[in-house]
Amino acid sequence: MVQSECRLLRGLLGFICLLAMCISASPDLCVSLRTVKDSLNVTSRRRYMKMNFPINYTIQVHYEEVFRLRNISQLLKEENPPEMSDLQELWLHASREGIKKVLRVLPERHPTRRKYLSNLEDLFRDFEGLYYQKYKKDETRELPESIQNIWDNMGENGWRSVTPKSLLDNCYRTMLCLFEECFKNENDNINYCDPNWRKGNQTT
Ligand SMILES: *[C@@H]1O[C@H](CO)[C@@H](O)[C@H](O)[C@H]1NC(C)=O
Ligand SMILES: *[C@@H]1O[C@H](CO)[C@@H](O)[C@H](O)[C@H]1NC(C)=O
Ligand SMILES: *[C@@H]1O[C@H](CO)[C@@H](O)[C@H](O)[C@H]1NC(C)=O
Repeated sequence: MVQSECRLLRGLLGFICLLAMCISASPDLCVSLRTVKDSLNVTSRRRYMKMNFPINYTIQVHYEEVFRLRNISQLLKEENPPEMSDLQELWLHASREGIKKVLRVLPERHPTRRKYLSNLEDLFRDFEGLYYQKYKKDETRELPESIQNIWDNMGENGWRSVTPKSLLDNCYRTMLCLFEECFKNENDNINYCDPNWRKGNQTT
């Protein structure tokens, strides 16, 4: 009798350990993303993406590589709204392409490249690796039309001028919205998906 209870307990303990392992898969993703967030801090964005460039300097990106909070709220209003992962994949794509486009115009020894953006690109690559390891792409799922259209037209709609800093500003703000569960402990009462949340909060 005692022995079987013991076995039961051991089984239960094993199950709990397994459960704990499953749950901790997500914190890994958040750890990686928090590293990205730290690098996207406002001081760095200002110094490396603005002050290191000529005044009003812009680069050319594809329309779909401009991904803002407004895009998210618009897409979520669609009749057949996207899943969070659809938006996260768009965010990853837009962010990585934006960084690539800035790197492309920077000379080899430019301080923004050497001291900041190359490293940030690596952090994004690491995060993307973890992300697709955790959320394996389901190729059989039919995407909502709005999302499918964006992917289909990617790069087909011509170019837009944006400042390097605005790319990372948008990348940062949409990140807080789309990966809220990684950040919500820090500031529980803010709705990061609300385009107005920064009002009166100049530090972000
Ligand atoms: C901002 O990010 C840069 C680059 O990753 C880092 O060196 C710096 O310590 C960060 N600053 C703050 C205030 O977190
Ligand atoms: C930069 O852009 C702003 C707003 O468009 C404009 O007012 C300003 O004159 C521009 N500065 C330079 C140096 O071109
Ligand atoms: C976001 O909206 C802008 C228009 O404000 C549009 O040009 C851009 O393509 C949209 N981005 C995505 C990824 O849909």
